[in-house]
Amino acid sequence: MRILVTGGAGFIGSAYVRRLLTGAEPGLAADTVTVLDAWTYAATEGALEPVRTDQRLRVVRGDIRDAALVDATVAGHDAVVHFAAESHVDRSIAAAADFVTTNVVGTQTLLDAALRHGVRRFVQVSTDEVYGSIATGAWTEQAPLDPSSPYSASKAAGDLLALAYHRTHGLDVVVTRGANTYGPYQYPEKIIPLFVTNLLDGHDVPLYGDGGNVRDWLHVDDHCHGIALAQTRGRAGGIYHLGSGAELTNRDLTGRLLAACGAGWERVRPVADRKGHDRRYALDCTTTRHELGWVPTVDLDHGLAATVAWYRDNRAWWTPLKPHR
Ligand SMILES: NC(=O)c1ccc[n+]([C@@H]2O[C@H](COP(=O)([O-])OP(=O)(O)OC[C@H]3O[C@@H](n4cnc5c(N)ncnc54)[C@H](O)[C@@H]3O)[C@@H](O)[C@H]2O)c1
Repeated sequence: MRILVTGGAGFIGSAYVRRLLTGAEPGLAADTVTVLDAWTYAATEGALEPVRTDQRLRVVRGDIRDAALVDATVAGHDAVVHFAAESHVDRSIAAAADFVTTNVVGTQTLLDAALRHGVRRFVQVSTDEVYGSIATGAWTEQAPLDPSSPYSASKAAGDLLALAYHRTHGLDVVVTRGANTYGPYQYPEKIIPLFVTNLLDGHDVPLYGDGGNVRDWLHVDDHCHGIALAQTRGRAGGIYHLGSGAELTNRDLTGRLLAACGAGWERVRPVADRKGHDRRYALDCTTTRHELGWVPTVDLDHGLAATVAWYRDNRAWWTPLKPHR
């Protein structure tokens, strides 16, 4: 199978590419893997280094908003797995334009090309954030979309376009909606790598508001395996939730990261809450479990310890990405 991975030089996309090329997804025989990535600030060479010399890998540096380039790149592929996005909520609050053009127009540009070239499966990689906050219980796939940030609103728009291309044009689309994800090669602006790298460097960590916001933490390997199962077994037009059920408040998470880095609470600096900050996300994954047979396997304690160890051992990857102090 010839697979096009957009955003394959970012955090989750690169993990997917590494898994495809190292046999971690035995159900997905990748004859070739093409990465299409614009190499924004969030992309790194290092994330693809472990598979750089694999003859099956081709890297195209280009923007999913560039219709001519997208058309030429999509041609000849059996499947598109679409990770490319502007992905950081805080940046979307500061300036939303790139979020709309990449996450909405870029997605539509890819969908058009997929349709023109007879792509047999289009996987729209999305997020639990499209549903907005939920006080108790968990969202099902039928819940109305109610995004709070420009980031999640742009992802919701991309999802709706993808599903509309299925309904209108018969394009074979599946949508995955994953929980907050952590692991190696995550850009050090998201809470876990930001806090760990700050602590390893002897700096403070900024905790939003009262620290009571709840997130469901999913290891990147579990997230990628769920996407791979959706790619191979998902029903056309299906939506698949990928959550771990491992809920933590940001305060609890901070406590664990402080302990793992040998630091105390004096290193925590409370900061004003994020605007529109969703209190809690939670996904009902019953359909995913039944239809795809997916269950997360990485225990949170083990996954966090391994992730902290990875950042400790891979300073050369993240040091150039940190702002100069
Ligand atoms: N990180 C999470 O916790 C999480 C959770 C659920 C879903 N997701 C979704 O997974 C996908 C990947 O997230 P991530 O955390 O790996 O993001 P990331 O920011 O680490 O990587 C995004 C990649 O997309 C590329 N990109 C951005 N704009 C582009 C454009 N216009 N054209 C081509 N490439 C472009 C970037 O260069 C980067 O390599 C996103 O769609 C995101 O919405 C992320």
